[in-house]
Amino acid sequence: MFVEIVEGRTKLLVPERSLTSPREIKKSLPPVFFNPRMKLNRDVTCAVVRALLSAGEEVKFLDLLAGTGAKGLRVAKEAKAEVHLNDGSESAVELIRRNAALNSLEVGISLREANLFLLERRGRFNFIDIDPFGTPVPFIHNAVLALPPRGGYLAVTATDTAPLCGVYPKACLRKYFSIPLRGELCKEAGLRILIAGVVREAAKLRRGARVLLAHATDHYFRAFVALRSGRRRADEALAKLGYLYYCPACGRRESEASPLPSQKRCACGGSYAVAGALWLGELKDAELARRAAEEAAYLEDKRCSKLLAAIASELEVPFFYDVHHLARRLSLGELPPMREILEELHRRGYSASRTHISATGIKTDAPYEALVEVLG
Ligand SMILES: C[S@@+](CC[C@H](N)C(=O)[O-])C[C@H]1O[C@@H](n2cnc3c(N)ncnc32)[C@H](O)[C@@H]1O
Ligand SMILES: [Zn+2]
Repeated sequence: MFVEIVEGRTKLLVPERSLTSPREIKKSLPPVFFNPRMKLNRDVTCAVVRALLSAGEEVKFLDLLAGTGAKGLRVAKEAKAEVHLNDGSESAVELIRRNAALNSLEVGISLREANLFLLERRGRFNFIDIDPFGTPVPFIHNAVLALPPRGGYLAVTATDTAPLCGVYPKACLRKYFSIPLRGELCKEAGLRILIAGVVREAAKLRRGARVLLAHATDHYFRAFVALRSGRRRADEALAKLGYLYYCPACGRRESEASPLPSQKRCACGGSYAVAGALWLGELKDAELARRAAEEAAYLEDKRCSKLLAAIASELEVPFFYDVHHLARRLSLGELPPMREILEELHRRGYSASRTHISATGIKTDAPYEALVEVLG
C-alpha cells in the first residue's frame, strides 16, 4: 500500500495511490494525504529555512498539519532545523513515525487537533507552517498567538483557489472578507487577499506583518510572513491593505491603500471592477529571496531556484500587465518578444520586470499609455 520515494534528499513512504491517481487525492481517499505536485512548495520551504538559518536566525519549525511528514521531515533533514510534526489523524502520525525512522531523524511528533495543539504549545515554535485542505483561515488566529510575540514566522498554503480567484466570490467573502477578481489578474489578487487575511488576523492580536516571500504556483498560493508584536507595527501593516480597480474594457488598473474602497472611474469612461481588501505591500524580502535561491542549488530539480531567482528580481509594484491580453483587447498587431518590451521600457527610463505569476506578465512603473505605446 505504501511505496518509498525520494524527494529532495529525504526518503518517504507515501500511499501508492497518491502517485498513480493524483486526481483522486481527496481527504477520504488514500489513508494519508500526499500530493506529489506539492514538491515545489516543500522545496521552497526547505530553501527559505536554510536561508534563515544561514543568516544566523533560529528556527524551531512546526509542521502543524503534517500528513506523511513530507515537509517537516524534509526541513529537518535538508535544512537541519529543529522540527516538530503534528497531525490529527492516527494513520498519518503512524506514517510520520515510520518516515522519521527511515531517515534516522530525531523530531517531535504529536497526534492532536491542530487548534488545541497551538493553544497548548504557545511560544514553543518560532516558525509555524500551515498546510491545510483548502484554506488556512481556521488556524491562523491560534498560530499567531502561538508564535513568540518578539518575533516569529508564519507560512500558509491555500489551495482554495476557486474562491480566491473569484469563481466563488461568496466563499471568498466568507473566509477572507474580501472581494476577489476574475480574469488575468485573479492569481495575484488571490495571493494578496490571502496575505490580507493573515495581516488582519495578526493586527487584531497587535502584531505587525512583513512578507518574506509569496508565490502563486500550480494550484495553490503560498506566503511566508514575519510577525512581530507592537501596536505601531500592526497599524503600519494594516495601512498597506487596500483595493485594486481594474477596467475590463481597456485593461487599465489602479490600486490604492485605504480601509474602504473609493468611487473611481476609468479614464476610458468604462467602470472599474473593484477587488479587495488586499495586500498592496511587498511580496518578498529581496535579499532573503536571493539567499533562498542560492540555498536551493542543492536540489537537483532546478524549478525551485529558478522560481526564487525570478521572485527576487521582480519589480515591487502591485499587479502586472498581461501583454497578450492587452494586445488582444486593444487589437494591437503582433507583439515584440517579451525581452524587447522590457528593454524598450528600460530605455525610456521606466522600471520593468517579468512576474513569476504569468509568462506574458510585465510589472512596470510606466503609465498605461506609455506601455501601450511600446506594445503598439
Ligand atoms: C494537505 S494535508 C498536509 C500535507 C503535508 N503538509 C505535505 O506536504 O504532504 C493536511 C493534513 O491535515 C490534517 N488535518 C486536517 N485538519 C486537521 C485538524 N483540525 N487538526 C489536525 N490535523 C488536521 C489531515 O489529517 C492531513 O494529514
Ligand atoms: Zn478603461
